[in-house]
Amino acid sequence: MSVTALNYPVCIAHRGVKELYPENTLVSFQAALNGNAQMIELDVALSADRQLVVIHDETLDRTTDSKGSVSKKSLEELRKLDAGGWFDSRFKGERIPTLQEVIDLVGKDSVLNIEIKKEYFEESDSEDTIEKQVLRHIIKNNLLDYSIVSSFQIKYLQRLRKLEPNLNLAYVSLEAADQSRIDACLSLGVLSWNAWHETLGKEHVEMLHNAGLKVFSFTIQTREEFEKVRNSGVDGIFADNLSRFQPLMSPWQ
Ligand code: G3P
Ligand code: CA
Repeated sequence: MSVTALNYPVCIAHRGVKELYPENTLVSFQAALNGNAQMIELDVALSADRQLVVIHDETLDRTTDSKGSVSKKSLEELRKLDAGGWFDSRFKGERIPTLQEVIDLVGKDSVLNIEIKKEYFEESDSEDTIEKQVLRHIIKNNLLDYSIVSSFQIKYLQRLRKLEPNLNLAYVSLEAADQSRIDACLSLGVLSWNAWHETLGKEHVEMLHNAGLKVFSFTIQTREEFEKVRNSGVDGIFADNLSRFQPLMSPWQ
């Protein structure tokens, strides 16, 4: 599924199907593919030897059988950890995937929404910064029209835009939309404003739509939250279990 072929509104599989599977693992992404997710979200991090791995938290404590910073362990060390057993013993043996492994699994079947966590951005100009490596992965795998890179930081979106004019970008925000950040997004040709659902009202969605931005809302867990963002007119939602919401979205019902 390419970004241009997306059928709105979209239900975005947040860290795969994290309600039923260990988040950000291959089994969770496979479940999202099995559920025909149009878009799959993941979080990317850097290991101590500067390899791209897929994990949400800065530390290993919550989602693996180890502890401490992700960035202090080499890829080889990270690969030995169990990233599934914490969730359910059925998933013992699931590994922290590399970004390339997720790309190999998903390919062009679903849009990959790759969130770069702020902790890994550096002021350096070196060739192996996280944003340059993510972009290299996208280009090497011919995924420019099949991926979106997202960040909570406008300054990192600026760096990404400088690197590649055709990269799809998304701005993630915990705060309600305001004109100055909307203008910053427009100057960067950002595709979507990904809003925390608590901050969204009809007027914000209208403001963002008038600016030409898509609006995706994270992370929808309850029917009440779902109905609120649906009524505000969003173009998509991030859901931890797409099978609960996807059937209600095509078209909005
Ligand atoms: O990109 C939307 C959402 O994933 C941001 O929040 O904490 O789940 O990464 P978080
Ligand atoms: Ca995320």
